[in-house]
Amino acid sequence: MSSVPITLDYSYLLPEVTPAMIAAWQPQVSLAHTQLHQGSGPGADFLGWLDPQAMMPAAQLAEIAAVAARLRDAADVMVVVGIGGSYLGARTVIEALAVPDAPQVWYAGHTLSADYTAALLKALEGKRFCINVVSKSGTTTEPAVAFRLLRDQLVRQVGAEAAKGLIVASTDPVGGALRKMAGQEGYTTFPIPGNVGGRYSVLTAVGLLPIAFAGVDIAALHAGAVDAAAACANDALETNPAYVYAVARNLLYRQDKNIELLAAFEPRLHYLSEWWKQLYGESEGKNNMGLFPASVEFTTDLHSMGQWIQQGRRDIFETFINIAGGLPVVTIPTDADNADGLNFLAGQSVDAVNRRAFQGTALAHRDGGVPSMTFTIPTLTAHPVGALLYAFEKACGLSGYLLGVNPFDQPGVESYKKNMFALMNKPGYEAQAVEVRAKVDARQGKQTVGF
Ligand code: PA5
Repeated sequence: MSSVPITLDYSYLLPEVTPAMIAAWQPQVSLAHTQLHQGSGPGADFLGWLDPQAMMPAAQLAEIAAVAARLRDAADVMVVVGIGGSYLGARTVIEALAVPDAPQVWYAGHTLSADYTAALLKALEGKRFCINVVSKSGTTTEPAVAFRLLRDQLVRQVGAEAAKGLIVASTDPVGGALRKMAGQEGYTTFPIPGNVGGRYSVLTAVGLLPIAFAGVDIAALHAGAVDAAAACANDALETNPAYVYAVARNLLYRQDKNIELLAAFEPRLHYLSEWWKQLYGESEGKNNMGLFPASVEFTTDLHSMGQWIQQGRRDIFETFINIAGGLPVVTIPTDADNADGLNFLAGQSVDAVNRRAFQGTALAHRDGGVPSMTFTIPTLTAHPVGALLYAFEKACGLSGYLLGVNPFDQPGVESYKKNMFALMNKPGYEAQAVEVRAKVDARQGKQTVGF
């Protein structure tokens, strides 16, 4: 990846995974790479994300930036209404890159919590806000409920006509309830390409409109992904960190390392972990297979989960995200009394201490039986972050094929919805309602304990 300086250091995988073991997977990698690029593998209808340039032409990028600018003039807060892949990508990039005084983006429709919803609606009272409702299907319950509530409040605050200009819908290009409603109401709309699933959609309007509203340079973010796509277009393992990562995690999985911890030393990357967990969890957790993707935030979690990681069951490995530089310099002062004994750090930056913590952690965990890999990006800025997102997507597609699953479907997420709809008498679910209620009644509350 010469134009995109992303590196993967996999030295700490030894002895479980050696460079020779990785290299031996080149034939399987080449086959999976061909399946991805020729669309001959499972889920081939959902490969639009592979080519970010084609997925997001310059004209649409400019249109998104223009709509974001218009909304920034009209509103102080954007509420993104969406769940799963329809909000996590935006939140990932906004939390990682938006400056503190940037226009605010709030979130709704990712929870059915009455407490959260009530607090959000209250906080929006009297605020100049706009809504970006994001749902590919246009029928997902959580965002549909939140959108109805938010739209009502917006209409109450600014009137029906003005509200229409403050609502943007990102949805299926042709079908679905949201597309229909947007057409009737005259909302501005952006299409979610039919060949891009939710968890691969951050670099479509799904992610880019809120990201642009928050003042992040979406052209640079997108360019990072385009450059990463070019750098990952070759199947040769020796030049492709995304593919080495995919192979390494499959090798570890075959050695009963069943849990992958994504670990970062930057709180701003919290939602990168959330996005990554959805990407890998939904893509690989099927057919009774798949690594369990989990995450930790260091050094914070070294004082909680650190004990487990160091000495608990040895079925984990870690993938670290490292930011090489560009972080603020906060210098630790000298203290004449040195009562806290910290003068050995005086004059050093907090970031330098954080880096020593990282090195110490990787070594301690390795010594404790936890192999690790480290992705490094040069700075926490739009271009490398775009490249990293793409690299994780590409690795995920390949990893799923190496595992032998379809990494682009998510049949399992329908199960809870069917039960919920049956329990709520949704039209069309009458047949299941009796059976589901009977099953719940047979279980719920039958064995309890409390005080
Ligand atoms: O990755 C996915 O496909 C899911 O997480 C969806 O994005 C999520 O369920 C929301 O679906 P929709 O955009 O149809 O409302």
